[in-house]
Amino acid sequence: MIDPLILVLDEGTTSTRAMLFGQDGALHGVAQQELTQHYPQSGWVEHDAAEIWDKTLACARDMVEQAGGADHVAAIGITNQRETVVAWDKATGEPLTRAIVWQDRRTAAFCAELKAAGHEDTVRDKTGLLLDPYFSGTKMRWMLDNVPAIRAAADAGTLALGTVESWLVWKLSGGAHHVTDASNASRTLLLALEGGQWDADLCDLLGVPVTALPEVIDCAGELAHADPELLGAAIPVCGMAGDQQAATIGQGCLDPGQTKATYGTGAFVLANTGTHVPASQNRLLGTVLYQVHGERHYAIEGAVFVAGSLIKYLRDTLGLIEAAEETEELARSIDSSGGVVVVPALSGLGAPHWRPEARGIISGLGFDTGRAHIARAALEAMAHQTRDLAQAYAADGAQWTGLRIDGGMAVNDWMAQDIANLLGLPVTRPDFVETTALGAAMLAAVGCGMHGSLKDAAETMIGATQRFEPAMADSVRAERLARWDAAIAKV
Ligand code: G3P
Repeated sequence: MIDPLILVLDEGTTSTRAMLFGQDGALHGVAQQELTQHYPQSGWVEHDAAEIWDKTLACARDMVEQAGGADHVAAIGITNQRETVVAWDKATGEPLTRAIVWQDRRTAAFCAELKAAGHEDTVRDKTGLLLDPYFSGTKMRWMLDNVPAIRAAADAGTLALGTVESWLVWKLSGGAHHVTDASNASRTLLLALEGGQWDADLCDLLGVPVTALPEVIDCAGELAHADPELLGAAIPVCGMAGDQQAATIGQGCLDPGQTKATYGTGAFVLANTGTHVPASQNRLLGTVLYQVHGERHYAIEGAVFVAGSLIKYLRDTLGLIEAAEETEELARSIDSSGGVVVVPALSGLGAPHWRPEARGIISGLGFDTGRAHIARAALEAMAHQTRDLAQAYAADGAQWTGLRIDGGMAVNDWMAQDIANLLGLPVTRPDFVETTALGAAMLAAVGCGMHGSLKDAAETMIGATQRFEPAMADSVRAERLARWDAAIAKV
């Protein structure tokens, strides 16, 4: 007899996964499918929401079977790529257009207009966010203005808007629940950090009808139930959070000041601020970390748009490498990048620069530059982007004393050491780097009463870590930083 398991649905930017966790945090199974990326124009990124659902359901069914049936699954935890907007018709349950992905820059002009009209300070003070196309609200408005079927559904009162977890819960519950958790809701520009539900003034400003939005709920508890037709039983959904917030929980950053960086498609640093509402003076974001029993905990966030997606670009578009793991060997094969710098602004620059119009560069090329130099410079860019965030946190008075790293890319030992070196700080990495899924499992474990609190869940479910100590000469660091700053100034 297997202990009751937690089924986690982890819907990322490039793949969808289902995973099974035990009460002790041990991984019992993984099913994964790649998602199609659609790039209809420069700066546009779309997903097919029907594909997201079909692949999620297929992976979930695999895991329920592996668990030995739905009776062995105590609860479901959902975590997801944030800010990506899905629009569907409540009457048919079908998507009305492709989902607009968080990386998409199409609303840059609308954001600039809102900024020019002087709205950024109010928006920032209320939501903790900035007027950048990254966030969901302007994407929702774009859909309403540009897709006639969406405007028509809004007029008919059947339009449902939501981020990816909202779409998944709708489908999973057979259309019974149109909900979003507070951590995902806090990425839309429509929720005040201290407001329980949507902010009517912000919805007016962005032109998003509040009636089309989901109800904002907790991140743990009995949040919804699966339609028994789909998984074989009405398994309760007991945990729900945006992937970066889930990773913060999965890293055990449960006390104020504790900070993590996840290197996935993008790189996202979150520092727990407890129940204190964060307010950055240095263009970092304030965000909801989680909400349980209506009580919110917050984080201050630095969002970098390109991390693992740069390595994917080197592999799939430039053909420079055959596999992501090769970058480690290539980086180790030379002593330095030979002056090559990669600024990976492939979809603009996020924190702390916020320049949606920026595009990437590779500088310092000579006839002696080989693919190893470019691969090494690509990995070095991760440490540099992280250090730019460290500077912004320090300017906000939140100096880091160490950093916990995770995410698929963090398995690269060379990169982990380079981050420690460039920051001049110890970096720790859990042996199990899929902290996003673990965090969702922890929320679900608390939500279904398997563990009494997130701290209890952390004690039982989080495993061993490895530590990387800084070991770089100050002169080398200074040279690297000067070269990076010069390159960033050119994009
Ligand atoms: O805010 C975007 C973020 O949620 C995407 O995460 O894991 O796809 O890099 P990831």
